Amino acid sequence: MLVNATNMLLKARDGHYGVGQFNINNLEWTKSILLTAQEMNSPVILGVSEGAGKYMAGFKVVAAMVRAMDESLGITVPVALHLDHGTYEGAKACIEAGFTSIMFDGSHYPIDENVAKTTELVAMAHDHGLSIEAEVGSIGGEEDGVVGAGEVADPAECAKITALGIDFLAAGIGNIHGKYPANWKGLDFEALDKIHQATGNIPLVLHGGTGIPDEMVHKAITLGVSKINVNTECQLSFADATRKYIEAGKDLQGKGYDPRKLLAPGAEAIKATVREKIELFGSANKA
Ligand code: 13P
Repeated sequence: MLVNATNMLLKARDGHYGVGQFNINNLEWTKSILLTAQEMNSPVILGVSEGAGKYMAGFKVVAAMVRAMDESLGITVPVALHLDHGTYEGAKACIEAGFTSIMFDGSHYPIDENVAKTTELVAMAHDHGLSIEAEVGSIGGEEDGVVGAGEVADPAECAKITALGIDFLAAGIGNIHGKYPANWKGLDFEALDKIHQATGNIPLVLHGGTGIPDEMVHKAITLGVSKINVNTECQLSFADATRKYIEAGKDLQGKGYDPRKLLAPGAEAIKATVREKIELFGSANKA
């Protein structure tokens, strides 16, 4: 059932668990995530980056596919279709295309410009029934060619952006996209605590969920994190399972080259990763 992400995240905040945002890249990804959320009776957020949107031939295609699949598979758990790290233009396009939630990433603008653009998009999103996430302090690592420095967000700036009426806030606390380097210092819980206190208990978003140790994820949830984004980990499990299939020469046996067979181990591997994360975040049976 397609909904915006506001209520599922307020429930998660009050119930002290996290809802997973899993990024989608194609039909297989979408199907694996929807079926697993349904099987585990968990709310779920499908994240779509601007790059993934282009790859799938546009946000309209994505929205149409997700809506039709949600209906055809008889999905009853709450599902939000969310733009991940949206530009100002991308956010507007997703509101028009039928997404149920957007993220506007204005973290690279000076704070006043971030405020002005976020204000406009909050009004537009809410007019159309969508939820909106904003970001302060860019998340490190690389995503779609955008390299963030991994800043720790300033609590005063977080409070300023929160006051604009956004529904949930992504704040950098030393988290980065992709694999964490061996010398990573871990999440900055002191900063998270200050941000949590400065932002009136708004649900907080933890980006870069891949590779964060379980105990850090649990601690982050106790400090106000209600949404955790995972992308790379599904990509790694998909690639690993696909490589094993090819290396075992299975594509050369019978009709093993049939894409429905070739992509099946990867699709199953994504299900296992999503299942594991839903357990870790505590959102099973919270639909
Ligand atoms: P990872 O790719 O590190 O899991 O991060 C995902 C993310 O934060 C999407 O916005």
